[in-house]
Amino acid sequence: MYTRLAATRRASFPHMLLSREEMTFDFAGARLEPERDRKLLAWVMNQFLYGEVSGIQCGHWLYQAPDLEAARFFSRQAVEEFQHVENFLRILEILGEGPAPAHRLVRFLSTGMMPATFEEHVCLEMALGEGFVLMALYGVIDTIAHDEIRAILGRAVKQEERHVEFGEQRTMQAIRERPALRRRLLGLSLVSMWAVRRLGAFMRSRLPRHEVLSQLPEFLGFSVACAERRLLRMGVLTKPLAELTALEKGLAIAEAYGAAVFRSPFRLLPKKRLTETYLRDPAVANRAPAPGENKIRMVR
Ligand SMILES: [Fe+2]
Ligand SMILES: [Fe+2]
Repeated sequence: MYTRLAATRRASFPHMLLSREEMTFDFAGARLEPERDRKLLAWVMNQFLYGEVSGIQCGHWLYQAPDLEAARFFSRQAVEEFQHVENFLRILEILGEGPAPAHRLVRFLSTGMMPATFEEHVCLEMALGEGFVLMALYGVIDTIAHDEIRAILGRAVKQEERHVEFGEQRTMQAIRERPALRRRLLGLSLVSMWAVRRLGAFMRSRLPRHEVLSQLPEFLGFSVACAERRLLRMGVLTKPLAELTALEKGLAIAEAYGAAVFRSPFRLLPKKRLTETYLRDPAVANRAPAPGENKIRMVR
């Protein structure tokens, strides 16, 4: 009850529901060194690159925008995401590396599930999804020992914060106007948090020894905890996850996916992804110094 009240009050202020401090993970002084960690950083930047290209898909939501404010926001966001694509290509250039395929779980999280409605898009892809990306960006900014890369990312996070904030505000508005939406948004959120946890479990068994990498599973756990806090403040969750029974979780997921299957049996199988088109574009692909050299052990 208190959480809902707090969320409503916060909604009138133009900032994210979680502060930078709340979203900051303590890496205990661990550093990412561009020279020493070049391959690792290239892998990380390629995951971001994929995410940014998928961000351009917000152009799709111009057609679904329920009002002028949302349409205006999406058109500006598309321009910003194009800039972010350029930012990550530039960082890869600084590292002397080129574009390479993203990990399958990152692909699943970014483009594996195309939301069916505007409300699902603002909650799942903007508040939660871009919230995860934002935390990862904060993590790199806090650990990378390279001024130019930190400056590039510092500019990008200001825009990502606005994307998250828009997602939060419009999710809260949607639930206020149609409370019945809440359970479906919760079901979809539970699945995306599960995928992030899976990514943590996957990494735990494959990570090489490294001062930052070794902390990634905890970092992902922390990111899921922040997502839970965000869901509570938006009112998608009305109580902590730990207090949800298996039946309540099951019903939320069944409602989310049951409704989706009824609408479209291909929810989990989007048509050709925009990411494929753009990432194969010679303007992007040809910036690779040598495509075959980009694989590092941890992603196999
Ligand atoms: Fe972005
Ligand atoms: Fe974004």
